[in-house]
Amino acid sequence: MSRKLFLRIFGGGTICAAFGGALIKAVGGGSQAHKTQTLLGARAMKRVGEIFYPPEYEGKEKHVPIIDAPSEVKPNEPFQVTVTVGKEVPHPNTVEHHIKWIQVFASIEGRNPVHIATFDLGPTFAEPKVTFTMRLQKSATLYAVEYCNIHGLWDYSVDIKVQG
Ligand SMILES: [Fe+2]
Repeated sequence: MSRKLFLRIFGGGTICAAFGGALIKAVGGGSQAHKTQTLLGARAMKRVGEIFYPPEYEGKEKHVPIIDAPSEVKPNEPFQVTVTVGKEVPHPNTVEHHIKWIQVFASIEGRNPVHIATFDLGPTFAEPKVTFTMRLQKSATLYAVEYCNIHGLWDYSVDIKVQG
């Protein structure tokens, strides 16, 4: 994977700085021996999930990316999804402190996540509330992830059942 592709997948920003360096080192330059040693876990590896704040953590009312979506839909019929950060208490929206991006993934029947949408937000102009239209053929869990430039990564999820 190229550094450019890696940055595109994770939307750029500090998340790449936080753990991207190790992965880039592993798959980027260097000798084959170095790559193998790093990828096989000769070094202690931390999981990206460890740096996410759960919905119950302090500051949840300002940071959790709440998903509003129907709990049940018809197969392949478009429906709307809204993700709001700061639904209970508005999150600051300044150049110094803002929500940088929101991403949405779907895990269909517990399988590998599928990227659904990425919203890159400009501070002070764009509010951290996004709505998009999607469709599903099978039941899925939707995951929303947001990045606050001061308080890090937060996530949330909902299940959506596809009728039939
Ligand atoms: Fe924040």
